[in-house]
Amino acid sequence: MASPQALVGRHIVLGLSGGIACYKSAELARELVRAGASVQVVMTEAAARFVTPMTMQALSGRPVYTSPWDARPAHHMAHIDLTREADAVLVAPASADFIARLAQGRADDLLGLLCLARPIGRCPLLLAPAMNREMWAHPATQRNVAQAVADGATLLGPDAGEQACGETGDGRMLEPQALCDAMVACFQPKSLAGRRVLVTAGPTFEAIDPVRGLTNHSSGKMGFALARAAVEAGAQVTLVAGPVALPTPTGVQRIDVVSAEQMLAAVMPQASRHQVFIAAAAVADWRPAQSAPHKVKKDGRHAPPALALVENPDILATVARLPAAERPWCVGFAAETDELVRHAREKRLRKGVPLIVANLGPATFGRDDNAVVLVDAEGEHPLPPADKLTLARQLVQAIAARLPATAP
Ligand code: CTP
Repeated sequence: MASPQALVGRHIVLGLSGGIACYKSAELARELVRAGASVQVVMTEAAARFVTPMTMQALSGRPVYTSPWDARPAHHMAHIDLTREADAVLVAPASADFIARLAQGRADDLLGLLCLARPIGRCPLLLAPAMNREMWAHPATQRNVAQAVADGATLLGPDAGEQACGETGDGRMLEPQALCDAMVACFQPKSLAGRRVLVTAGPTFEAIDPVRGLTNHSSGKMGFALARAAVEAGAQVTLVAGPVALPTPTGVQRIDVVSAEQMLAAVMPQASRHQVFIAAAAVADWRPAQSAPHKVKKDGRHAPPALALVENPDILATVARLPAAERPWCVGFAAETDELVRHAREKRLRKGVPLIVANLGPATFGRDDNAVVLVDAEGEHPLPPADKLTLARQLVQAIAARLPATAP
């Protein structure tokens, strides 16, 4: 998903400790630079055996530091100079040895030294572990990781899967894109910390027979962007997704469904466990009264079969009608083709929800950008056109600002 220039103005110290995952850090440096960050690479001696400082220098556009004795910084104090301008330190890969030294507060190389010397109150430390699965699972490593986290570090991953050593398990470094996304998330305001948010996204597909059905042009991008933005804002997020091929945003729990009835069945048991419900899905209003068990054949002699339709349950309205103690704070979308605000106002009242996000369906379905108007009891609040992730972040802030402090 596009993350346009989300790190502009941010200065990140990218630390590499020794491990084969260093090859991914080259791509990571590139992703961070692409997102607008300035990147200062610092490498341990072991890291420099896996990828050269020259490679990292070329990708970051800055000289790489490897030694506390480096005479280039103004006061010959690389560990101080490098961290005073940093907005965050990201160590990727963070080896078992590096985490052990970090847990002990050791300062016997530049990377450990600057982690210790960084202004702890305003310069977060993020660790992306990468190691063999047995090393990761070892009680010593787990103890050191727990200590580093207790001392304020944020853990990114590790991932599970095939490892360079040929074994399979926990310990792979997260992919560069996921690490870049985590970096972006680190700088977002945590306006939904401690909240649980339930989101529906995408179209639904209503089967006529096993190969045909009724659906619409919704791509799911807005709902997925909202799920991601809510995670970035510190929420625990459950995403109920119709049939779309989008990747699940990091940290989101996803439930895949196909039809409106399945979406309702997935949403209802979850609704009262969440404080916010965002209905971004373009739920099909009708479904065939009967779905044929086998493919309906055309024989060329008879008229095409008539399609009898029945109305689908309204998921948003059903959640909004829950008793107050079980009801999350509900946000609906209004996809219209005309008279946007009038329809959105009516829809807000009809569905009984505090906030409706109104947009012109044909102008946004499938696209990466959108223009929306927020409609609440106070009136209309247009948001300037933007890409869907930027809009989603603004929407999340708008929702957080309206949430009652004592949401159920
Ligand atoms: N919605 C829903 N279940 C449905 C239909 C809609 O949860 N069966 C939700 C959508 O997710 C959206 C809001 O209701 O948040 C409005 O959807 P929209 O398609 O714009 O409106 P409809 O209720 O379908 O009304 P109409 O077709 O008359 O515009």
